[in-house]
Formats: sequence, structure tokens, C-alpha cells
Amino acid sequence: MFPSYYHSFGITKDNLVFIESPWRLNIFKLFKTFWNSESIDTAMVWKENVKTRFYLVSLQSGAIHPVVYQSDGFFAFHHINAYEEDGQVVVDVAGYDRVDVLFEMFKNPTGDIQGQNLGSATTRRYILPLNVEDAVSDQNLVTVQDSKAKAFLNGSVDGKPRIFCTPHHLTDGWVELPRINYRFNGEKFNYFYGVYASKGSGWTGIDTLTKVNVRNNSSICWSEEGMVPFEPIFVASPNSQDEDDGVILSTLLDKMEETQATLLILNAKDMQEVARVKFNTAGPFTPSFHGQWANESDKTHMF
Ligand SMILES: [Fe+2]
Repeated sequence: MFPSYYHSFGITKDNLVFIESPWRLNIFKLFKTFWNSESIDTAMVWKENVKTRFYLVSLQSGAIHPVVYQSDGFFAFHHINAYEEDGQVVVDVAGYDRVDVLFEMFKNPTGDIQGQNLGSATTRRYILPLNVEDAVSDQNLVTVQDSKAKAFLNGSVDGKPRIFCTPHHLTDGWVELPRINYRFNGEKFNYFYGVYASKGSGWTGIDTLTKVNVRNNSSICWSEEGMVPFEPIFVASPNSQDEDDGVILSTLLDKMEETQATLLILNAKDMQEVARVKFNTAGPFTPSFHGQWANESDKTHMF
């Protein structure tokens, strides 16, 4: 009666990756929510002391991988990427150690709850070893080079080996709306792009676009006083070879001009501005989350 909330999933060449977090929908409360016309978050609960579990589902057979992968409880709206390397599944996400307080922050954006909630939000890498038959309990099963992620055999659950994972943090703090060069979806990759809040206030204080190098944890940023950027969308150059040969598209909200919307175009290599297009809107231009770009020949989403 407490299903996990899912916002996105990862996909490698062989597996889907689902992350079951302690953030659960209380079905009993859900009826009350509908009855009282309350918002759905009033039916969500953070299950204290419940671990987060990773499920690998075979794309070929639909079977769940017979190893129980767990970590300390965390939640992620957005997967960054996932891929397989050296017999392990690498899972990169924008994670929160707690998420229930995030919703308190949305309701009370000027409150002092912000710091405590986002202090534990980072983009992070979990690495899940696929074959654990020969594992011994004090051995870190992660062999992917240059990663601080760990995975240890830790008993069993219902007769299945239990692997406990700790992450490698890709950024020191909160970064959200992660996007990659989608040609590298399910593949080993170098870069993701996202937004963050330089003053540490998370969703309510987004002011910077960032390009993160996941190999060495370095980053390049773009920001402009008074502008609020949204999801950075990577568009590859025609016939590009390099992963970051292309542009980043982002919409900007102008804090001082509520009827002005800007499409910002950055060079993805160095995050320097290439061009911008300004639009005057009929009414106030409001914040957005996700974006979408489609070439003339692409099929687009129907929303
Ligand atoms: Fe989302």
C-alpha cells in the first residue's frame, strides 16, 4: 500500500534501471487527498530507515536481475545517464538524501528550511556489480577506474545476495535538470549539463547553467545577473564527432521584465554565449522545468 514514486528511469544497452526510494505514496491517504481536493504531495510519506533499492530489468527478457541492490535512503527525480562497464552498471542521478522537506520549501520558499534540505542533495554515481557469485563480504566490488563508488556484499534478502552501494559524488552540491548529448544515452560519457543555485537555495534560487565533466568532477558555468535559466538542452552540431561539439539551448526568465522570454544559445565546449533571441510575451513569462528541441525531420512529443 506504499508504492514508490518514479519520475524517470535509466536505460543501458541491456537493462532498464528503476530506483525505488523511501518516498512513497500512502494509498490510504490518497483517498482522503481526493476527497478533500488536496494536492497529491499530502499523500506522500518519507519512510524513515527504509533503504533505496535499485532494480535492473532485462530489456530482452523483462526479468528483474536476481541481486538486491540497496543504498542508504535517497530520492532522485532525474536520471542523468546509465551504462555498463567492466561487468558493472553505472547509474548517475541527481539525488536527494531527503525529499519531503523539499516540498516544505516549495510551500515556504523564504523559510529557513532550505539549507538543511539541500545540503545533502548532490549529483552522484552508484555502481552495481552484475555478477556477485564469488563475492566476499569485505571486498569492494567496484572496479570501474577512478570511481569512489563502493559496493559490498552484505548478507541476503529472500535468498538473494544483497549488495550495499555507496555513491561517488559528481558535484559537491545541488545540480538539477541534468541533460546529456543524447547520442551517449546508455553509453560511457563525459559531460552533463544542468542548473544550480549559486546561493544554495535550490529550486527557488536557480541562477546558473553548468557543464559538469563526470571524469574529473570539474565544471564550467554561465550566469547573468537577474536572469533565471532553465533546463539546458544539448543540440549536436551536424556531423559532430566530439561529445560536446554542439550548442546548449536554455530559456531565460528576466526577473525585472516579466513579459520578456529569452532563448539563450551557448557553445557547449566552453559555455560561452553564441546568440540569444528575445521574445516579448502577451503575459507574464513563468518559470519552466523541462524543455524540448526537435529538428525539422524529428518526431516530437505530443505535448
Ligand atoms: Fe522532471
